[in-house]
Amino acid sequence: MTKKIKKIGIITSGGDAPGMNACIRAITRSAIYKGLEVFGFKRGYNGLIENDFIPLQSNSVSNIIQRGGTILKTARSDEFRTIEGRKKAFKNLQKNNIDALVAIGGDGTFTGASVFIKEFNFPIIGIPGTIDNDLFGTDYTIGYDTALNTVVQAVDKIRDTASSHGRLFVIEVMGKDAGFIALRSGIATGAEAVLIPETPTYIDHLLRKLNRDYQHHKPSSIIIVAEGDDFGGAYKVAEAVKEKHPFFDIRVTVLGHIQRGGSPSAFDRVLASQMGAGAVDYLLQGKKDVMVGFMNRTTVLTPFNKAIKHHKEINPNLLKLVDILSI
Ligand code: F6P
Repeated sequence: MTKKIKKIGIITSGGDAPGMNACIRAITRSAIYKGLEVFGFKRGYNGLIENDFIPLQSNSVSNIIQRGGTILKTARSDEFRTIEGRKKAFKNLQKNNIDALVAIGGDGTFTGASVFIKEFNFPIIGIPGTIDNDLFGTDYTIGYDTALNTVVQAVDKIRDTASSHGRLFVIEVMGKDAGFIALRSGIATGAEAVLIPETPTYIDHLLRKLNRDYQHHKPSSIIIVAEGDDFGGAYKVAEAVKEKHPFFDIRVTVLGHIQRGGSPSAFDRVLASQMGAGAVDYLLQGKKDVMVGFMNRTTVLTPFNKAIKHHKEINPNLLKLVDILSI
């Protein structure tokens, strides 16, 4: 029989994402509402290994729904990849009478969780927190909407100066393995081209298009490149364009970690609140080894191994739309 859950732990792990705090708040308060005790472990799995935690009361999570980052801090734990590390983590969970864990993070977080559940039969439920939006089993991950809006605001500003000077800007956005940020920000800012890891980059095709735009006297051009694109990033793209079309006045902007910070959007706060409260309900129903996703306006569960292994497809119509709308 599964043990009755009375005390839960929370961790945030992997890259931080705006809305993680809103999620910590939602888990804490809905757990307290259901009569549970809550502990927050620091720096992801490292906090479990080092027994570094804080008890979370209702007022411990006051005034954080609007704050970026994570009050629990985050890390990618090397020690948790070892059996010795995981044994220490399990011992500390037992010592503190923690009955279940909610892990907010991305695929690395869920890979670790899945191994841990199999080894120690310890209940863990996951919540997708990553700006990349690259997890199968959810339409949106916490932080993606905020990051997207950060990119759109930045590109709008760059467009102002690009069109004043008649320049071509190559802008690199985050997305090591996924082009969701690049693609949607490209549509939202009217980019002339978007390069993403999911599709091969045909540089000759891009060069022809840019030349056509130049002949048609386009006042400025924006190319958005996801960092994981196979051509090698924004600087490489800029070099290739300059070599073939030396008449372009080119600048490169790498947006970097600005995309990971800032106050979460209303969308991310609501998403995080629904997922956090949902995770507590699902744990109390005896669910584990699953990720809480959000699809068709409701929470859904996907087994960790599916969420990690299956690839979330980009919408090819959106890629086509970039071309159509930038003639
Ligand atoms: O959060 C996901 C992500 O933003 C990726 O797109 C990016 O490659 C990575 O994190 C960079 O993270 P860090 O600088 O923390 O290693």
